Amino acid sequence: MTDAGSKADEQGVDQDRRKFLTVATSATAAVGAVFAASPFVASWKLSERAKALGAPVSVDLSKIELGQMITVVWRKQPIFIFKRSPAAVAALPANDSQLKDPQSKESDQPAYATNEGRSRRPDIAVLIGTCTHLGCLPKQHFEPGDAELGPDWPGGFRCPCHGSRFDMAGRVFDGSPASVNLRVPPYSYPNDTTLLIGQDDAAEQGAA
Ligand code: FES
Repeated sequence: MTDAGSKADEQGVDQDRRKFLTVATSATAAVGAVFAASPFVASWKLSERAKALGAPVSVDLSKIELGQMITVVWRKQPIFIFKRSPAAVAALPANDSQLKDPQSKESDQPAYATNEGRSRRPDIAVLIGTCTHLGCLPKQHFEPGDAELGPDWPGGFRCPCHGSRFDMAGRVFDGSPASVNLRVPPYSYPNDTTLLIGQDDAAEQGAA
């Protein structure tokens, strides 16, 4: 082999080595990136899990029409949120004589929801949407005189499983298998149009 030939061979080897080193470095960098990303992925999963387990859920109230109900999930439970008209709020006391626990003395709600409307604000109701009998999902029948429930029906909910009936504040009617009112979760209003489910003063202190 000539000198020129061996020089060319050496250059070829150098180039191959450079290529190998470049590939090896890139591979190492990629693995490093995966490892560097892992703690982030782990903490993201953790925060998603924490969220599912109990983080507060924020709801934009400006998107809910008068008389409309939406359902969100908090701590794996359905939460009913609905806007009551002034007429629906004014009609609540007329139900008292037909209710099992009109003053919510035996029922489960935060202190600020132990009132006629079982709510912080009269116009917004926030209820845990599982029947207090055996946990079915009560169906909304907000229209007074609903065809299915008769002309005296004042508006509220009926559970499809065994027929428990609740008024527009989630209070249970006499004759229902459920013995207490629908439960109320802890919540607060950071501003006029935002509802924060799962966080209030008591909840922040770990009391809820
Ligand atoms: S679960 Fe609702 S009435 Fe039985």
